[in-house]
Amino acid sequence: MAETVSVVRAGRTETYVVGEERADGSLLLLPRALPEQPARPPAARLPVVGDSVLEVDGLTVAYGAKVAVAEVSLRIRRGEIFGLLGPNGAGKTSTLSAIEGLVRPRAGTIRVDGIDIGHDAMRAKARIGVQLQATSFQPDLTITQILRLYAGLYGVRLRDGELSGRLAEVGLEAEAGKPFSQLSGGQQQRLALQIAVVHEPALLLLDEPTAGLDPQSRRRLWSRIEQLRERGGSILLTTHSMEEAQAVCDRVAIIDHGRLLTAETPGELIVKHRDDPRVREVAHGEVTLEDVFIGLTGSEVRD
Ligand SMILES: Nc1ncnc2c1ncn2[C@@H]1O[C@H](COP(=O)(O)OP(=O)(O)OP(=O)(O)O)[C@@H](O)[C@H]1O
Ligand SMILES: [Mg+2]
Repeated sequence: MAETVSVVRAGRTETYVVGEERADGSLLLLPRALPEQPARPPAARLPVVGDSVLEVDGLTVAYGAKVAVAEVSLRIRRGEIFGLLGPNGAGKTSTLSAIEGLVRPRAGTIRVDGIDIGHDAMRAKARIGVQLQATSFQPDLTITQILRLYAGLYGVRLRDGELSGRLAEVGLEAEAGKPFSQLSGGQQQRLALQIAVVHEPALLLLDEPTAGLDPQSRRRLWSRIEQLRERGGSILLTTHSMEEAQAVCDRVAIIDHGRLLTAETPGELIVKHRDDPRVREVAHGEVTLEDVFIGLTGSEVRD
């Protein structure tokens, strides 16, 4: 069977090969074989701490002459919620895009659950769930159809009852028949998250998942993230909210001009940098995570 299906997501078209047509009418879709990746020079390896679900070593991402991510190395442990903080243009989305396999790194290695994404992209990507910074889905499909479609892409079969159960989990049961374009921004975010976890990925990547959400929805998303972690998932998220980083992240890293400055628990980060003169200068009283962030990355506004 050589039939293909094109799916438009976040403005990019991805083509899938129909692997199997099942008796219940659902399709098992497989990503089209990716072109051969050129061999990359080996990167310096960090020692593996505990059981890492994500190992990034010496990651460099460039767009032509612009180096967006420079030799970034980090580990995410199983069951960990890890926050990537950084000013606008620091390289957060580019880091996530490389892990998702959307951009090809100029150098470095990425292992998801021990699988090298440069060698076996399809198997590595099957273990990842992604919510992009701006998500859009096929505008003319209902959200039930969209959820069914994405479940099918990951080889997950959901019966009608299960589909409505998944929508109910994020308070979208009443919107089941609506097209994506008729959802509010917060509802779109919730659907995007539910789609990202439809195949229970080992690693969930969330790019500014709470941007534009009201305080109630933000809290609801935090508890959903905690819930996913309790089920054994690991989460890498980006945020501009220091409050969020402190509330949900076990560890946070600060990235600036493509370089990773530091990665610790929010509490350790404050203790480690509270006497830094750059941090002292911007702190008004007791040093906060935001003071550390501004002290280390500078006060000027980025593009
Ligand atoms: N497709 C692209 N082509 C060229 N340059 C790009 C591209 N995508 C990102 N960049 C540049 O790479 C740098 C890092 O961008 P990136 O989107 O990774 O930052 P970010 O940390 O996610 O920022 P934000 O907080 O604003 O989302 C920026 O200087 C950006 O202008
Ligand atoms: Mg970004």
